[in-house]
Amino acid sequence: MSVPKLVLNNGVVIDQLGLGVFQIPPAETKAAVLAALEVGYRHFDTAQMYGNERGVGEAIAESGIPRDEIFVTSKLNNNSHEPDVAKAATARSVEALGGPMDLYLIHWPMPAVGDFVDTWRLMECFAAEGLTRTIGVSNFQIPHLQRVLDETATVPAVNQIEVHPYFQQDALRAFGREHGIVTQAWSPIAQGKVLGDAVLAAIAAETGRTVAQVVLRWHLERGDVIFPKSTRPERMAENFDIFDFALTDDQTARITALDAGLRGGPNPDEFNWIPD
Ligand SMILES: NC(=O)c1ccc[n+]([C@@H]2O[C@H](COP(=O)([O-])OP(=O)(O)OC[C@H]3O[C@@H](n4cnc5c(N)ncnc54)[C@H](OP(=O)(O)O)[C@@H]3O)[C@@H](O)[C@H]2O)c1
Repeated sequence: MSVPKLVLNNGVVIDQLGLGVFQIPPAETKAAVLAALEVGYRHFDTAQMYGNERGVGEAIAESGIPRDEIFVTSKLNNNSHEPDVAKAATARSVEALGGPMDLYLIHWPMPAVGDFVDTWRLMECFAAEGLTRTIGVSNFQIPHLQRVLDETATVPAVNQIEVHPYFQQDALRAFGREHGIVTQAWSPIAQGKVLGDAVLAAIAAETGRTVAQVVLRWHLERGDVIFPKSTRPERMAENFDIFDFALTDDQTARITALDAGLRGGPNPDEFNWIPD
């Protein structure tokens, strides 16, 4: 069975499942992406902050798979919101990835550091220049999104935010849905923290699947885009094998009941970290 696809608000099509490469060391990224391509992944989520865009680009080039069959996302770093710095950083991403991006995100809004609406206008320019097919944001809260909607001409195609069974973000997801903004759920298995959950283990037993598969399936059925990270080919294959079963309403309700408002990562309203 093939990966379900979503159409973004500018008509660009995205696979609902990909591979995230956060915390994959640069020297291991090419091998990880090649292994994922072998499994069947055609969608990769990287970032300037991860330092491993080049490995993604090299793997795609080496695979021989036509570039237009692969979807690559990268993200503007927190230290690169100033116009000249942003232009240079974006040019470096395009070079490292071996060509224009499919999706380019503002990684964090950084509200205490600068005006993310100005940064969004730069993103509009990068799209107009053909450096990316589409643009979006990451870690934006409703007030951040509202300002972009009110003050600019382009609705972000996606908002990439932390979402998993312990942190379900339904208000922010609903706001996105209302405005044609697809939610991308980062840390979809909470970096492994949900894997020991007794409720999820029971549902895994009922479905004959692993806990990771149950959780990833739950995300797909909610309509979000996900890219679980793994460097292990057997886990990449496990995470990719979720298209041929469905959760019952009762199973979905039991997962919904696990929401605990438990963030694993930083709060975007407070996060103003600038890398060197
Ligand atoms: N925009 C943002 O600010 C932001 C923030 C965080 C993440 N992200 C994106 O979201 C992606 C995914 O999030 P994440 O990497 O934080 O966390 P995640 O995908 O929820 O979890 C990854 C962790 O789970 C393990 N794992 C993966 N599949 C497994 C399986 N089937 N069974 C058991 N363990 C498994 C991985 O270990 P192994 O590698 O050893 O398998 C790794 O330790 C990132 O790679 C990145 O692309 C974006």
